[in-house]
Amino acid sequence: MKWIEIPRHYLSKTSEIRLVELPEKSFCLVWNEDQWVAFSKKCPHAGASLENGWCEGKEVVCPYHRHRFNLIDGRGAIGQGNYIQIYPLKEVDDILYVGLKENIWSRIFG
Ligand code: FES
Repeated sequence: MKWIEIPRHYLSKTSEIRLVELPEKSFCLVWNEDQWVAFSKKCPHAGASLENGWCEGKEVVCPYHRHRFNLIDGRGAIGQGNYIQIYPLKEVDDILYVGLKENIWSRIFG
């Protein structure tokens, strides 16, 4: 696991979903129910940008066809048969980090 700092300008504590674009990865980030959640930028159903979606309780809702995904484990609602990726986050000394899996090549050559 590689921990990457999320720049401060992404960290306004609002319920608006934002797209975080880092050299290593792009993902959605939201302040939801008093905690940060990082998740896939695209909906697995037909590829809509989840940045344009919204949160209802502990779920994010896709703006296209209203698929819903749990923000804790990424599972789609019953009957959807899909899921999104939830990325681990940690806060150290007031800095928020996202955890990304390292691929085999970066482990060998990184
Ligand atoms: S593209 Fe997200 S529900 Fe269809």
